[in-house]
Amino acid sequence: MSEKKRFHIVTYGCQMNVHESEKIAGMLSELGYTNCDEMESADVVVFNTCCIRENAENHAFGNIGMLKKLKADKKDMIIAVGGCLTQQMGKAENLHDKFPYVDVIFGTHNLHKLKDYILLKRTQKKAVINIEDDDGSIFEGDNPLRTSYPNAWVNITYGCNNFCSYCIVPYVRGRERSRKAQNIIAEVEELVKQGYKEITLLGQNVNSYGNGTDEPSFPELLERIANIEGKFRLRFMTSHPKDFSEELAKVIARNSKICHCVHLPVQSGSNEILKAMNRKYTAEDYLEKIEILKKYVPDCTVTTDLIVGFPNETEEDFEATLNLVKKVGYSSAFTFVYSKRDGTVAAKMPNQIPEDISKRRIMKLVELVNSLTREQSASYVGKAVEILCEDYDKKKGMYCGRDEYGRMCYFESENNAIGEFVNLKITKANGISLYGERI
Ligand code: 5AD
Ligand code: SF4
Repeated sequence: MSEKKRFHIVTYGCQMNVHESEKIAGMLSELGYTNCDEMESADVVVFNTCCIRENAENHAFGNIGMLKKLKADKKDMIIAVGGCLTQQMGKAENLHDKFPYVDVIFGTHNLHKLKDYILLKRTQKKAVINIEDDDGSIFEGDNPLRTSYPNAWVNITYGCNNFCSYCIVPYVRGRERSRKAQNIIAEVEELVKQGYKEITLLGQNVNSYGNGTDEPSFPELLERIANIEGKFRLRFMTSHPKDFSEELAKVIARNSKICHCVHLPVQSGSNEILKAMNRKYTAEDYLEKIEILKKYVPDCTVTTDLIVGFPNETEEDFEATLNLVKKVGYSSAFTFVYSKRDGTVAAKMPNQIPEDISKRRIMKLVELVNSLTREQSASYVGKAVEILCEDYDKKKGMYCGRDEYGRMCYFESENNAIGEFVNLKITKANGISLYGERI
């Protein structure tokens, strides 16, 4: 019997990409391949790229370049490159010129056709470069090979209409489109039946789900999903603050399955910068949304995304961001240095900020965010929490999982606890991590 063929996927970027890699893995399994950890032993290598920031893009280019030698030694190996990098204007051709040994180049709109492209390459030895345009349709036949039990991701929208001035996403992922509620609900029901315990609804801006269609609003959809029977947790990301509504806060408050933890990217605390970013809210509007959320869900934690070094950002603008971070008291935050993306409005703005200034600002911001996180962690000691065990940390020799607020807790267990809800008493806080004992 011939040995099983193997695949290896390299994923860059966000949760959206991680879930897309699960869909790619699903297609490769259907073709008879099994997953392997090393690129060297793979028959198919897929790079699922990201172009949101320049370093993710450079990283992918570097890694694809390193495969030249391996491919020269293993001529039958198939190399495929997809994800949002290939969807940027002229990038697919650029990739093909630079790395002629890449066999398949595909985009974000035709991800589901990768299976056909691999088959075509296998049978006809033909390279495939196919970056289809966004035709507004949604493919519903995905069969992802999920890798994060007990957590599962479910797309509810694709694309984005917001055109924040720094962001490439609307150009590479196309206009926003919503999946039909009945398809989303059926997928979640099936996942719960299979034993998944935490469902995260995914979209660039989940709050605008259903806009301009006959589908329900996002709060309605969320409530319908929360009404599915069984014990599971419900999360969603990402929310655009301009569309975050009182109705949504009420839905979170009255449905116990929805976690009291909301990711609400603010990006900056300066009104000048928010305007230049085309975010369509002020710092005051944002704080008002937080107030509404806390009115209905007082214990809700908030996480965010922040960018420093946006063109024209002054020291005062940056101070305004620090002040807003303190005021909200985020439980954690993703912090980024602004990255100039060709084709976006901000790329043409004068006064791009020098690297040394951005670096100093990000260090100060990270310091502040970490101090808030540490403070909140310390206040956990002695408390009881319910966590969903999601992994075993080999280095620590401990199981780990998150509470509903998203805080990671480590604990010892004789039996495999992955997928179980476990009650812990927190005994120690170490930076952002918590340690506890079963109760
Ligand atoms: N530079 C830096 N950060 C960016 N993001 C998006 N585009 C850029 C960019 N050009 C960040 C935003 C967004 C997150 C997903 O990535 O903070 O919320
Ligand atoms: Fe990018 Fe703004 Fe859309 Fe988020 S909402 S994906 S930052 S354009």
